[in-house]
Amino acid sequence: ASAQRPEDVIQRYMEVVAGVQDEDCIICMDQLSNPSGYETQPTEEGGPSILPGTVGKFIKCGHTLHMLCMLAMYNNGTKDGSLQCPSCKTIYGEKTGTQPKGKMEIYSIAQSLPGHPDCGTIQIIYSIPPGLQGPEHPNPGQPYTCRGFPRFCFLPDNDKGRKVLELLKVAWMRRLIFIVGTSSTTGEPDTVVWNGIHHKTEMLSNMSGHGYPDPNYLDNVLSELASQGVTEDCFKPP
Ligand code: APR
Ligand code: ZN
Ligand code: ZN
Repeated sequence: ASAQRPEDVIQRYMEVVAGVQDEDCIICMDQLSNPSGYETQPTEEGGPSILPGTVGKFIKCGHTLHMLCMLAMYNNGTKDGSLQCPSCKTIYGEKTGTQPKGKMEIYSIAQSLPGHPDCGTIQIIYSIPPGLQGPEHPNPGQPYTCRGFPRFCFLPDNDKGRKVLELLKVAWMRRLIFIVGTSSTTGEPDTVVWNGIHHKTEMLSNMSGHGYPDPNYLDNVLSELASQGVTEDCFKPP
């Protein structure tokens, strides 16, 4: 979590629009010409606060909504200094998650994956030990379990596979690969589970659907990474 004022985060990525809007706010569903139902927060650190009637427009995607509604959504989340447009999901800033502490290791395997006969294999090993949930988790102070760790994952060792690996390293550092929640496979709550960025955990067959061959896998995982704000732009200077 970052120490910056939530109001400043909103104003970094949204500009104030003047004039009555003939549209609805996607958060509160009321018209933009009516004020947001949220109340202006007294800001602890001083500085300007956002008024209920203020309408904001996202700087890249251009979607408009009550700035105070967006502030309420931000304050309800991890408050990491990033915003996501609730209309089109465009991410502003660096989205981070709540993955618990652990390690990501990378190894090389000479054997090829089914469907990728021309190259060797990259093996990723994720290890996360059990621990106590922090304030960012569903049940702070309660323990979380870690099933099936270390988890072994596989990528083809070609250009596209190596690109996916570099983006997975960014996603790992931003704590986006795992989340503490309820496993959809086992129903167990308060456990460390995958967070929507699919990994291949089966190397030489595809009986689980999480193995090889799968000709669409690398493209699919690239778009899952992009939906969390992890793209090749992460490697470009700002
Ligand atoms: N390998 C990779 N991904 C999986 C697997 C698997 N064996 N099983 C499910 N997933 C995907 C699902 O498709 C879903 O998108 O993980 C996502 C979250 O599913 P959950 O069941 O909630 O995840 P989790 O409990 O973390 O893991 C299920 O994955 O790696 C294995 O050992 C792990 O057996 C466990 C399984
Ligand atoms: Zn609103
Ligand atoms: Zn948008």
